[in-house]
Amino acid sequence: MKLNLLSAGLALVASLAGLQATAQDYPLRPITMVMPYAPGGPGDTITRLFAGAMQKQLGQQIVVDNTAGASGSIGTAKVARAKPDGYTLLMIHVSHATNMAMYKSMPYHPVDDFEPIGRATSGPMVIVARNDFPAKDLNEFVAYIKANGPKISLAHAGVGSASHLCGLMMMNTLNIKLNEIPYKGTGPALTDLMGGQVDLMCDQTSGTVPPVKAGKIKAYAAAGKTRLSGLPDVPAISEAGVQGFDINISFGLYAPKGTPKPVLDQLTAALQKSVADPEVRQRLEAMGVSAVTPDLAKPEALRAHLKYEIDTLGSLLTKAGVKAN
Ligand code: MLT
Repeated sequence: MKLNLLSAGLALVASLAGLQATAQDYPLRPITMVMPYAPGGPGDTITRLFAGAMQKQLGQQIVVDNTAGASGSIGTAKVARAKPDGYTLLMIHVSHATNMAMYKSMPYHPVDDFEPIGRATSGPMVIVARNDFPAKDLNEFVAYIKANGPKISLAHAGVGSASHLCGLMMMNTLNIKLNEIPYKGTGPALTDLMGGQVDLMCDQTSGTVPPVKAGKIKAYAAAGKTRLSGLPDVPAISEAGVQGFDINISFGLYAPKGTPKPVLDQLTAALQKSVADPEVRQRLEAMGVSAVTPDLAKPEALRAHLKYEIDTLGSLLTKAGVKAN
């Protein structure tokens, strides 16, 4: 009995010493930032931008790991299971909230298994089509998809992804059903849209503004009430009399539950400096995305935003009966 108590005490001292060392010397080796969607998509672009900016602040390399699939839940589970030492982080958007509503069984809990570090970005979405899609403007587009419904394919990044949510909102508001084609991320989906293999997508501007400007795909509408600064000639969907369709996507950074507070504080400080970095802000703006202000790059702000997304979008999907498995 005495021996057991002694070894338990020694183990506790050793683990506390380990945590302290982690906090004081952090970071001593490269950090992995998991992006749970495929390369080439908006999440990948945003994660790489922040990995670059934060590594300057932390003085250590940050490696991006695209563990994609099951609408981000495979990569997210990897982070939930990782050692909580600040060397494995997760950059994710709304699917952190919506997956819980869509999947019957989840290998992690989005709130209980993570420590929020802070919000990073906020950005609008846009309805885009293959270049030879037969509608010359937004009114013709709405009429055409209403008339053709399931003959039209809608690519997205999997059930629960931002592009899926946006597509669902479009179908619900217009009361139509399109033929959904899920991918592991909007990177590969966008490649097929440019190649003309699929008809439509509703995607984040970070992935879509550059190919629209380059004439590789065409944009019909901003998915909201206002036009996009990056595509000022493209109307807002509300201009066609379509109401109640407004979606904005925010990325945030998380660590596994149990990551020591001093490590989390260092990560938050690095994120706050990164969102204020003029180069980061300017590169995001060119993609039609905004870096949040430093007061939102904080754990409380990300916690509150996740709760808002779970309460609003998550319960919207539950009520609509949308399920992934
Ligand atoms: C991606 O990076 O592929 C996207 O963020 C996926 C999505 O539409 O949610």
